[in-house]
Amino acid sequence: MASSLPPRHLLSVTDISEAAAHAVFEKVKLQKRSLGKSGSDDLPLRGQVWALLFRKPSTRTRVSFELAVRQLGGSALFLSATELQLSRGEPMEDTARVLGRMVQGAVIRTFAQEEVAAFARSSGIPTVNALTDQEHPCQVLADIFTFEEKRGPLAGKTVAFLGDASCNVARSWALAAPIFRFHLRLGAPRAFFCDVENPWIVQTESSEEAVRGADLLYTDVWISMGREEEGVLRERAFSPYQLNRQLVERANPEALVLHCLPAYRGKEIDGELFEERAQDIFDQAENRLHVQKGLLRWLVNG
Ligand code: CP
Ligand code: NVA
Repeated sequence: MASSLPPRHLLSVTDISEAAAHAVFEKVKLQKRSLGKSGSDDLPLRGQVWALLFRKPSTRTRVSFELAVRQLGGSALFLSATELQLSRGEPMEDTARVLGRMVQGAVIRTFAQEEVAAFARSSGIPTVNALTDQEHPCQVLADIFTFEEKRGPLAGKTVAFLGDASCNVARSWALAAPIFRFHLRLGAPRAFFCDVENPWIVQTESSEEAVRGADLLYTDVWISMGREEEGVLRERAFSPYQLNRQLVERANPEALVLHCLPAYRGKEIDGELFEERAQDIFDQAENRLHVQKGLLRWLVNG
């Protein structure tokens, strides 16, 4: 019998509490220890089809969600927006009303946050934000898991984000700070400061100040998808914010260096530093799969 409860969504990092996220992380740790072998009693998406509707390119998010859905017993239906009637102007709400009658869940990558919200409202099925211009919640939840797996609790620690503090990934970090109670220093040109303000965040134009004593050093591309026409301006504005060895020396000696990928060596991160820290960065990429399996379980089972 279909549940009468409204569907749960993950549209923003603020849609999950610290307690729920940590309950998910505990199960993910166990799931990783069992080397991904799922028992037949651990197939919460059995018989379900989940649509992956993407308006922007993706490697990690697409592959990890396709595998996550399959490994939880469901099947994934990848839909490139360019091949849907969406590309000819059909409203997202109508697309949602159609898909909501045919599939059991949706993972959406698009431009406006309002589009994923509209899909969630109109479809009646669990909906996941797989990146919008405003947020990348699945990325930041997997990043927090990765930090805690390698260094212990993030609460009370300091995260330094360098580069485009106005981008989706930085914004999800900013929204996550009060939930997970870590300090966030955003090092960016003033014109690219984050629009989120809370007592856990400090924004500075000094990359040295941002990284001082930090426990996690993080960066993302300078030119997010959809911002290509601002490329020259952005490269000029962000060049003082490259994550490099000189800055790492100012951080906590045990600091973890993470990057959500794709990485542009010699731009937002120094190439040698990237290779030195590649083990952690690719563990971080792999954790997208593990953590998203946990998040899908949470969405459908609670
Ligand atoms: N980090 C991330 O979301 O990568 P993709 O754009 O390849 O999905
Ligand atoms: N800020 C980047 C993240 C890529 C995963 C972008 O939106 O392109």
